[in-house]
Amino acid sequence: MLRFATTNAGKLHEAREYLADVVGEVTQFDYDYVEIQSDDLAEIAAHGARESFDAAGEPVIVDDSGLFVDALGGFPGPYSSYVDHTIGYERVSELARAEENRRARFRAVVAYCDGDRLETFEGVVPGEIVAPRGDGGFGYDPIFEHDGTTFAEMDTERKNALSHRGRALAKLATWLVEEA
Ligand code: IMP
Repeated sequence: MLRFATTNAGKLHEAREYLADVVGEVTQFDYDYVEIQSDDLAEIAAHGARESFDAAGEPVIVDDSGLFVDALGGFPGPYSSYVDHTIGYERVSELARAEENRRARFRAVVAYCDGDRLETFEGVVPGEIVAPRGDGGFGYDPIFEHDGTTFAEMDTERKNALSHRGRALAKLATWLVEEA
């Protein structure tokens, strides 16, 4: 059993698909850890995992992720959640589409802590910012296109197979098997 400290149902759903075979059940740990301010996703995730482990007393993972738009110097990056809740993904799409270079990447760092071990695993997926399309997924999914399809137009299985979080979770799964 592994606890996932998150309030995001989308993240939990993706983690279950990757880790169920390795750890059995992945349960939601409804704990609001302090998200430190840093440009480094790994530092934010590691800090959250340590604090969540201290609260749970059992192995936990946390995920810190974001959308990094090349022409906007990586904005919104580690502040993706805040920006989504303030100006919204439509506005980010407009800002990026005003640029010639619309390349972007989603990055995710999953941090695992069991008291003795604190490990981070990173996944990245490249794409392009487009006008919103599709109604699946969450957050910036409608404006992130990969190989001609936005993440919001993909079913969970397809998105997982290539997403930043999927890539980070796959690395964690491999590591857990090796360590077992
Ligand atoms: P976090 O909770 O600080 O990791 O916030 C990450 C934010 O980045 C989320 O609230 C979303 O706005 C965005 N984000 C991260 N991963 C994804 C994804 O897979 N699809 C769409 N948006 C994402």
